[in-house]
Order: sequence, then C-alpha cells, then structure tokens
Amino acid sequence: MSVITNEIKKRRTFAIISHPDAGKTTLTEKFLLYGGAINQAGSVKGKATARHAVSDWMEIEKERGISVTSSVLQFNYDGYCINILDTPGHQDFSEDTYRTLMAADSAVMVIDASKGVEAQTRKLFKVCVMRHIPIFTFINKMDREAKDTFELLDDIEKELGIATCPVNWPIGSGKEFKGVYDRNNEVVELFSDTKKGTTTGEVRVVDANDPELDWILGTEAKVTLEEEIELLDGAAAEFDQEMVDKGELSPVFFGSALTNFGVETFLRHFLAMTSSPLPRKSDHGMIDPMEENDFSAFVFKIQANMNKAHRDRIAFMRICSGEFNAGMSAYHVQGGKEVRLSQPQQMMASERKMIEKAYGGDIIGIFDPGIFSIGDTITTSKDKIAYEGIPTFAPEHFARVRQVDTMKRKQFVKGINQIAQEGAIQIFQEYNTGMEEIIVGVVGVLQFDVLKYRLKNEYNVDILLENLPYEYIRWIEDTKTDLDKITGTSDMKKIKDLKGRPLLLFAHEWSIRMTMERNEGLQLSEFGRS
Ligand code: G4P
Repeated sequence: MSVITNEIKKRRTFAIISHPDAGKTTLTEKFLLYGGAINQAGSVKGKATARHAVSDWMEIEKERGISVTSSVLQFNYDGYCINILDTPGHQDFSEDTYRTLMAADSAVMVIDASKGVEAQTRKLFKVCVMRHIPIFTFINKMDREAKDTFELLDDIEKELGIATCPVNWPIGSGKEFKGVYDRNNEVVELFSDTKKGTTTGEVRVVDANDPELDWILGTEAKVTLEEEIELLDGAAAEFDQEMVDKGELSPVFFGSALTNFGVETFLRHFLAMTSSPLPRKSDHGMIDPMEENDFSAFVFKIQANMNKAHRDRIAFMRICSGEFNAGMSAYHVQGGKEVRLSQPQQMMASERKMIEKAYGGDIIGIFDPGIFSIGDTITTSKDKIAYEGIPTFAPEHFARVRQVDTMKRKQFVKGINQIAQEGAIQIFQEYNTGMEEIIVGVVGVLQFDVLKYRLKNEYNVDILLENLPYEYIRWIEDTKTDLDKITGTSDMKKIKDLKGRPLLLFAHEWSIRMTMERNEGLQLSEFGRS
C-alpha cells in the first residue's frame, strides 16, 4: 500500500450535530482529551478565551460572544487520524452548518436525554439522510433525569425515520444513574465521575451474570434492567453494518459527556463502525480515494475577513483524494486555470496552524484571492474532474434589502454579490414586477446582522432591511412548468434567483401542499442545485 493510501485509510472525518446545549462542545472536548490534542478539560469550552483566540476575525463574534463560523479539529487516537467538523449552534445557525455536512463521511448526533429530538437536530438530520451517510447517536446527560429510554428511541425512529440499534443500555438516570449495560460483551460499566476532567480515571466493569451486581445495582434496578433487555432483544433492530453504512440504522450509545462516562466506549465503537474516506461522485464517475492518486478537493465553505487589513478570504476544502503539499499548484476546474494553493491552514484543538501536508479526508483552509465559490473543484488530475456541486439549502428568513444612499448602488451590488458568493446569504429578485429590489434569504436570522455589518464595514454601504413574512422556499424541479401559469395560494410569492431560475416563497407550510395539488405535475424541492 502506498504511503498516501495508508494515510487516507487512517482518516475518519465526521460532523457532530445537535440542538444547542445537548452537549456537543463537551463531547468534542472529551474526544480531544483522548486524542491528547488537549490535556485539560475546558480548553475548548472556555468561551471567553479560547474561542475568541480562534476566531476573532469578526467583531460581531466578539461583541456577541459566539462563534459565527464552524471549525474543524484534527487529532490522533488509536492509530486513527480523526477530523471533527464542528457545526455552529445557537442563533448563529447558518447555511454553513448544512454545508459542513457535505464534507463529512459520517455524523454523530448528540441528543439530550431529558429532551429527545429537538428542532435543530431535525433540520441537520435531513441533510444527513439526503447524503446517506452513517449516523451515530450519543444520548447525553444520563447523569440528569432522563426520558424513558424506549420513548427516546421511539422519538428518534418516528421523528427522524431511522431505525435504531442500542449498543449499550442505561441503568437508571439522574441521581439513580448506575451505568450502562454493554449488549455485546454482556457486562455492566458502572457509572462514576472519576474520569471527569481527565482520561486516567477507571470505570469499573462487572460481568452481567456476577451475583455481586444485585447489590451493586439494587434489586429493583437489576430487575428493571433484565426486563428492559428482554424487551429490547425482542423489539430492537439487530446490528447490521450495511444498514449503518447506508444511514438506515443508527447505533445508539448512552453516556454523560460532562463526567466523561461512556465517551471512550463510544469513540472506540464509532471508529470501528465508520469507514475511511469514501468514493465521491464527479463528472467522471465515482472517484475512489483508494485508487485515485492525484490530489482533488472541493470547496465547501468560504470564510471572509480573516484579516481585516487585507480583506482576504479563506476557502475551506475537503480533500477527496491524494496528497496535498503546501504551496503546490493545482487546476481550479470552475475557474479554468492553474492556481497556487498557498497559506494552507488546519485547526488543531483551539489553534489555527500552518500545515505542510494533508491527505484525502482532511479539511484545509487555503488563501482565496476571491476566485473560489462554494462547490468548486481543485485537482491535479489530468482529467480535470469536477465533483458534484453542493446543493443550496432552503433559507427560512427573507427580507427586502435596499441601500440608504442610492448613489452607492455600485458598491452595494458588488458587496452583496460577493457575500452571496461566499454562501453566507442567498439573493433573489422580484419576478416580473419590474422592481429592481433584492430579496435576501438566510438560514439563521443572525446572518442579517452579519450582512448589515459587513456591508457597512467592508463596502461602506448602509442598508435597510424590511422583513418579509415568508418562511418556506421551494425550487421548481421540473422544467415544463410555466411560472406564469402557476396558481398558488394568497401567501405565495414568485421570485427568481440570479441565474433566472424561478422559485416560490410561502408563509405557511400547508400552502406548499395546496399549491402542488392545484398545479398538476409541479415538482418542488427543498434543496436547490448550484
Ligand atoms: P452544545 O455545545 O451542544 O451547545 O452544549 P455544551 O457542550 O456547551 O453543553 C451545554 C451545557 O450542558 C453545559 O452547561 C455543559 O456543561 C452541560 N453538559 C454537557 N454534557 C453534560 C452531561 O453529560 N451531563 C450534565 N449534567 N451536563 C452536561 P452550562 O452550564 O450551560 O455551561 P458551562 O457553564 O458548564 O460551560
């Protein structure tokens, strides 16, 4: 096996998704602890210090104490080289969050045991399903009062439409949390928080048939466990690696990230059940990183303004095949020319560092002189392959935008187009109304503030935003439908994107269905083709 193939084989690239506060940051931090990338809990989480040190390129982040952008963390563990794609949560939820999932080979879904499936998880999950990537579930905060375990699993199956297969099973929760039963090895891992901030503490493991377990757990808890396991063995789906690979079955684990209980077990199983970087679709068929030696990568995120003085941008790309060397040249397929890939960066724990080499599966940030767009391919392959584009995700908030000073039309148009090209916002136009006004669509409302801020600071343009009542956007899939002839509901608005493609906006979800019923053959999609 070549050095390159060997390196790629070691890679595991996954995204962590969850609703805010489920414990994503805490779990990530514990992973890094195992990888030795940090040696003390708190290094990632320290909102006031570490986070700002990483991403102080945007004033707005500092002002609000949040991270607008998602980051990538790399660490080594047990012979694997792991890339975690963090997806920003809270109100800073943006299209970037969705796009990050396009660069991952699998996803870890963190669920708060007292809450079950929540809104943001549901949205991100849809993208995972679209991509058919494996999804692993970590049910967190078992040290707090949790929902009934069967109910939690039911919730996942019904809400998300995916079968579940518990790898371990919790014994009680909250103050009564005793540990987890490992179904494969038929042992009980007893809960303790001795490992809380480190990896050195030990977890006691007792054979499920050990009579001692009766008094360790207490008779009631032991009987409940036996009953539940019997029920589970009869009702739950069997573990099936093929179904896991296709994203149809999610292995489920229980634990408590804060006390570092169940994290290592999860990590070990997860690494064994996921695969190295997978083949990806291109205009030349599937490109398999194990066979393709040439370097190839696609851009999934563009981060502007890393250095205000230069107004530069960083294009984040996922390497799909081959080896990357700092300063190398490669062909930018969409731009139609060779480019030098300079200032490559990677995130290591909470620091950004320059790198010399990277391999298929890795994520790197490259200096972008303003030439890259989301979805672009860069490659050294003679075939000039182009990877399949990244879909456009449905914005949920819309506003009509106009510049305060009409004399600044040129700067305004330039600025808003550039920001749209980076993928932070989507811009649309009125359809056949003769109005020149621009309609902006965003996934998270914070992007409106970011837009306002950036137009003012980078392009010296003040804008006014008039919120529109629409929440749903649909792309028209079929080419036969004549937009002029669509009869919609009173809360529907016709618009077009910059390429002139028609779209529909709706204020209510039920109007989408009604419009489809009224217009036979009309096919609407939640994802747009780029
Ligand atoms: P997020 O990234 O998904 O938004 O969640 P994060 O890890 O920031 O965790 C949210 C809150 O939940 C934090 O408390 C964190 O300490 C707590 N938490 C995470 N995992 C567990 C767990 O297994 N058990 C319990 N009991 N709590 C957990 P916070 O008070 O909001 O933040 P902090 O002051 O601790 O930083």
